[in-house]
Amino acid sequence: MWGGRFAGGPSAVMREINASIPFDKALWRHDITASQAHVAMLEAQGIVSADDAAAIRDGLRRIADEYEANGVPEDWSLEDIHMTVEHRLAELIGLAAGRLHTARSRNDQVATDLRLWVRDATDRALAGVRALQDALLDQTERHADTIMPGFTHLQIAQPLTLGHHLLAYVEMLERDRSRFADARTRADECPLGAAALAGTGFPIDRHATAQALGFSRPMRNSMDAVSDRDFVLDYLQAAAQCALHLSRLAEEFVLWASQPFGFVTLPDALSTGSSIMPQKRNPDAAELVRGHCGRIVGCLTSLMVTMKGLPLAYSKDMQDDKPPVFEAAGLLDLSLAAMAGMVAGSSFRADRMRAAAEQGFATATDLADWLVREAGLPFREAHHVTGALVRMAEDAGIALADLPLERMQACDPRIHAGVYAVLSVEASVARRTSYGGTAPEEVRRQLAAARARLDETG
Ligand code: ARG
Repeated sequence: MWGGRFAGGPSAVMREINASIPFDKALWRHDITASQAHVAMLEAQGIVSADDAAAIRDGLRRIADEYEANGVPEDWSLEDIHMTVEHRLAELIGLAAGRLHTARSRNDQVATDLRLWVRDATDRALAGVRALQDALLDQTERHADTIMPGFTHLQIAQPLTLGHHLLAYVEMLERDRSRFADARTRADECPLGAAALAGTGFPIDRHATAQALGFSRPMRNSMDAVSDRDFVLDYLQAAAQCALHLSRLAEEFVLWASQPFGFVTLPDALSTGSSIMPQKRNPDAAELVRGHCGRIVGCLTSLMVTMKGLPLAYSKDMQDDKPPVFEAAGLLDLSLAAMAGMVAGSSFRADRMRAAAEQGFATATDLADWLVREAGLPFREAHHVTGALVRMAEDAGIALADLPLERMQACDPRIHAGVYAVLSVEASVARRTSYGGTAPEEVRRQLAAARARLDETG
């Protein structure tokens, strides 16, 4: 396609290092879509005749059918998906194929194709995050009253409701959706028609191609149009942060599914066995989601480092933008699907969670608060007295609620029998009705609000 200027052909190494077809064939649908929009515009502008435009359109449709049926052929000498399509078009329709590349370059072509691809990936991510949020909300509804221990430093801190814990992830994921939506808005400009870097002398209509491809407008600067990969980085940044949230959720499931916790039974469909230990039931899917986060962050890093130091406009380094974004999107799609399945299909063991919440003197804060409220102690003093009572219970090997009143009063005479009312885990969560708190009643309010908000934003 560009051989006119050369006496000899490229070496085998040149061909191999240059070839992007092994991976950019994934762009074939978007490449053909963009070419259809381009040829329609060339015809409308009188740059290509109606007959040639019809032949090109028809040829592109046949190529799409071929690729749909048999995949994209991989010929390294054709370098990339753009030349592969054009070469096949020439085989099918002859010389008219050569008119398709009028007033465009592979530089604006690849930028356009990839934008279309990333836009689709963003829509998939938005839908995948939403599906996971729905699964979390359904479990929240089931477990608004289910008591579990809440941790700080992975030490039992205060009793929680499981619904409250799950709602925390709904919030993280809501920020992810907003990041993806934001990335999509910023990517909503079309590079096509920027040509190699400087624009073109042909009387093209960039607004028409932008509109035909579903973009709000053409990119304003042709140099920026061919050299910008912010739209890929925006997607990858959103993907990395989302993957990070999925990894944290996955880690909770790994912990909760281990026998000492025993909080959850993962769905069979998302567990694996061991080839040697027959009793094993491993949370491989959750572990892989946790692992995939590292790879997705690596994809982001990879492209950031590729882009740093590139002068305007296009450089071939930018061909390396595709493997990381394809990899990251594939991993993210899978991770979202795995976590949605895991959340929806897990059965939580309320008995085990409640028993764990009873351990670790989780209601000690309630006791201190009671001393402030009912016995008039300053909080610091209440904290100190409660600490002594915890030590007493720990030495005796009993729960706070099982300390006899006389022993408590020996510690502080202002304590009376009313204290026992606040020492149960149920009482502890029920009291935490502050905005965003863990009380079942407040969790139900948050759940309804989250559902309303999600329905509103789609
Ligand atoms: N395969 C190339 C890429 O992915 C297409 C653009 C090639 N442009 C060029 N001037 N060689 O970036």
